[in-house]
Amino acid sequence: MGNTERKKMTVTRFREKKARGEKLAILTAYDFFTAKTLDRAGVDSLLVGDSVGMVLYGEKNTHPVTMEMMLAHTRAVARAAEFALVIADMPFMSYQPSFESAITNAGRFIRESFAEAVKLEGGIEMAATVKRIVECGIPVMGHIGMTPQSIHRFGGARVQGRKELSRQYLIDSAEALEEAGAFSIVLELIQADVAAEVTTAVDIPTIGIGSGKECDGQVLVINDILGLYDIYTPKFVRKYADLPPVIEKAASDFISDVRSGRYPGDDESFFKKE
Ligand code: KIV
Repeated sequence: MGNTERKKMTVTRFREKKARGEKLAILTAYDFFTAKTLDRAGVDSLLVGDSVGMVLYGEKNTHPVTMEMMLAHTRAVARAAEFALVIADMPFMSYQPSFESAITNAGRFIRESFAEAVKLEGGIEMAATVKRIVECGIPVMGHIGMTPQSIHRFGGARVQGRKELSRQYLIDSAEALEEAGAFSIVLELIQADVAAEVTTAVDIPTIGIGSGKECDGQVLVINDILGLYDIYTPKFVRKYADLPPVIEKAASDFISDVRSGRYPGDDESFFKKE
């Protein structure tokens, strides 16, 4: 699609896309250049995920990610995004302790790093928090299923929705989040038939990650689809490119050019000869 006919994505347009049966395509981004490239490619939204802790900082999980890290990465992404909706992920313990912490930190993303929405993890138990943030004028994306900030409670990255209790909890949670004013919900690692049920239970778009094809959209971590994170690759990830060999080749060409004196050449000096 040419940029002339492309409209800025908003939370309202998110819902309209579901109503029209159009799928939403979302990728994570953490830096200016990647965000600019993905925006140009046409993603509907750029999610500044707390996955940044693992894929950029090499942490074991998302727990060590701080507000300051997320604010800095979100600001870089927001500077680059022309059309995509910029969503900032609220890090562990930035919203769970109290309504006050949730509202204050959600507000910081809007005011200090120019996010257009925030995302937080949790189902029915987080609905009241979502409501309070939305009442402050800040759009909220929910996130249910295998929520990574609760990895220790789940005992690992396990598929959710297998048992009747868990299936009912997911449906009740999606409905409670919609009622609280969430504009969309991420469904992570939910059994596909349950994710489909959740998707029909709500009018707001569901965005799947490892939750089958019936969701209203899909999100993946950019580093995973480019082969730029090999510590752990979930089965649902599709690798669209394998960049490490390209980067390694460029770096080794540079190293050998420097060592052999082929770089810099005469025309690559900052002060070019006339
Ligand atoms: O942190 C993240 O990147 C996420 C998405 C993968 C949903 O929460």
